[in-house]
Amino acid sequence: MRYSSLRGSVATAAIPKKLNRLIDSKKAKICVIGLGYVGLPIATEFAKRGFSVYGFDTKAERVKKLKDASSYISDISSSAIKLLIRKKRLIPTTDQAVLRDSDVVIICVPTPLRNKRTPDISYIIRVTKVIVKYLHAGQLIVLESTTYPGTTREVMLPILEMRGLKEGRGFFLAFSPERIDPGNKRYKFSNIPKVVGGVSKEAGLLTKKLYSKVVNKVVYVNGAESAEVVKLLENTFRIVNIGLINEFAMLCEKLDIDVWEVIEAAKTKPFGFMPFYPGPGVGGHCISTDPLYLSWKARRVGFVTKMIDLASKTNLGMPKYIFSKIEALLIKRGMKISKAKILVLGVTYKKDVKDLRESPAIDLIELFKRSGIDTAYSDPHVPYLKIDSIDMRSVECIPKNIRRFDIAVLTTGHKGFNYKQIAQHAKLILDTRNAFEKAGVGLKNIIKL
Ligand SMILES: NC(=O)c1ccc[n+]([C@@H]2O[C@H](COP(=O)([O-])OP(=O)(O)OC[C@H]3O[C@@H](n4cnc5c(N)ncnc54)[C@H](O)[C@@H]3O)[C@@H](O)[C@H]2O)c1
Repeated sequence: MRYSSLRGSVATAAIPKKLNRLIDSKKAKICVIGLGYVGLPIATEFAKRGFSVYGFDTKAERVKKLKDASSYISDISSSAIKLLIRKKRLIPTTDQAVLRDSDVVIICVPTPLRNKRTPDISYIIRVTKVIVKYLHAGQLIVLESTTYPGTTREVMLPILEMRGLKEGRGFFLAFSPERIDPGNKRYKFSNIPKVVGGVSKEAGLLTKKLYSKVVNKVVYVNGAESAEVVKLLENTFRIVNIGLINEFAMLCEKLDIDVWEVIEAAKTKPFGFMPFYPGPGVGGHCISTDPLYLSWKARRVGFVTKMIDLASKTNLGMPKYIFSKIEALLIKRGMKISKAKILVLGVTYKKDVKDLRESPAIDLIELFKRSGIDTAYSDPHVPYLKIDSIDMRSVECIPKNIRRFDIAVLTTGHKGFNYKQIAQHAKLILDTRNAFEKAGVGLKNIIKL
């Protein structure tokens, strides 16, 4: 079946009047479930625009922090939280009963991978089972968590209809992928166009109306499945292009060509080219995970996503490639890697955030540790690193510490690093991000990926 077969025109479809009115007058009560990197910015944005928002999370310490007006997400200031709580626009809670009083429910729970790198939608299922207990006529439920096509209709809908209310008449169910980019100062929740697609046309239109109150542009697509797959296309596009440029970097090394210079020159073409950059791999909750949701679903319908599989393999192989590059650099200087002291600079998955999820720097540290190499790290955003077998404390990036290491490998560049000072005091640097050159530091001891 083609999912995008919702009938009728957008203009003529009947939008349920009461909820429509509540949204228009900003009297609709909203409950955001899951107050993480995605949920907290959404909750605060609706609250800032005049809606009453419950922020429901099962993590009591997160809720307590918010009640104490202390933000744990870099992009959201504590003063903004304080103001919204004082005005009672934002009510953080661990009490699921607030769902009874909510006209709109927005779900922002995690969608990680299981050990075998297959989708884990257990958080969505658990939350849906909670919502159905409080589901009432006229409620709109929107899933924001990234997931494979079919989750909203095939997994959530049967649970929500269990108690007799029917979607499209009794209640409304839609999907709207979150595109937020933590740490991005230019594009924030309100100026990133929002894609929406409903299980029913009514749900899609209500969701369009809802988000048009807080974002500049809402893009309506025919069906929840189209909206689900939009997000996966966006991130697949990135993972495949990053895989391509990582392969290109390895080829350029063999050809003794500077891949960074090649990219800079190629991107002067005003059309038909978009720059991607090599690095130690891909990390974060999205790009490293989402395409695997898509390839899993593809296999279920008998399709093999060769591009995704190859790009994932290339990207996952980057820490090993960097390890062998360091090994070769040290051998040239008469040193075995097993005897070296290595400093890893930047362990978060991207610059200027404190998010460690799926960070390739962690894989690299694990590779060093497994080989018995004396390894340390420095990251202004991560004072301690306690993941699996790793239990370390960040080394302060000051001259006497930098000088102690045989090589420093930059895996994530942060604004907090003093590149000039690091380059002046490090014996040798492998820069996997071209961060030193970008900072205008060009000393002979810096080797680029
Ligand atoms: N982080 C990003 O940059 C980003 C961007 C776009 C989309 N996404 C997607 O958004 C979703 C959420 O990601 P995130 O980064 O905000 O995750 P997160 O881990 O930062 O936050 C999730 C929150 O959900 C809460 N939670 C878990 N189970 C719950 C339950 N049963 N009831 C109530 N709360 C519960 C957790 O305690 C946590 O606070 C994921 O699907 C992710 O792929 C993330």
